[in-house]
Amino acid sequence: AGTGKFFVGGNWKCNGTKDSITKLVSDLNSATLEPDVDVIVAPPFVYIDQVKNSITPRIEIASQNSWTGKGGAFTGEISVEQLKDIGCKWVILGHSERRHVIGEDDQFIGKKAAYALSEGLGVIACIGELLQEREAGKTFDVCFQQLKAYADAVPSWDNIVIAYEPVWAIGTGKVATPQQAQEVHVACRDWLKKNVSAEVASKTRIIYGGSVNGGNCAELAKQEDIDGFLVGGASLKGPEFATIVNSVI
Ligand code: G3P
Repeated sequence: AGTGKFFVGGNWKCNGTKDSITKLVSDLNSATLEPDVDVIVAPPFVYIDQVKNSITPRIEIASQNSWTGKGGAFTGEISVEQLKDIGCKWVILGHSERRHVIGEDDQFIGKKAAYALSEGLGVIACIGELLQEREAGKTFDVCFQQLKAYADAVPSWDNIVIAYEPVWAIGTGKVATPQQAQEVHVACRDWLKKNVSAEVASKTRIIYGGSVNGGNCAELAKQEDIDGFLVGGASLKGPEFATIVNSVI
């Protein structure tokens, strides 16, 4: 960790029930969390209100997606205004599951990012390569192309955290080595320096996601350019998520 305040997000994905979420929130409320860390959880939309009304204000809420513009006749979508209305401060965009399972493309994601930022939400902007892209030596190309789509769409990087999540590491138990993650984070920072500005490169937090757990977080957190984590499976367990938050160094 080396840039800005350590940032740890828990992406609960499409998991949980009213009961399991009540228990998770109560575990998080009683956990000891290092003060100098931004801690965020992203519940499924339908439980955001429940979580917001029961979780410690120490933990901020993100949504797992948002619509590209103002609400209206968009069946099944949730607007940024609605998310703000129920207390969200952040939105996760460009997650690999949205890209590769649902089929969202760079341009659509860029549009959502620009709109969310214009309305004052922070954006957790995900990028990451597929296994075959890594094996073909295209990791940097893919990440740079995804970064460029954000850069082309957004007017400012002030409220963006980049989440590097190699797709082959998500939900697989196959975490990137600290060196593999660090290598991509440095390359992305360098890309920001060349293509956005030196200031943005030095200030933007780049967090890692993909099979982070209580056992591997400390080694990853030691890397200079890993500024936090986006956690899936392990964020569903309060004490383990707290361990990851507290891996800040
Ligand atoms: O957004 C977090 C994520 O995709 C990583 O999931 O379950 O591998 O920690 P997981």
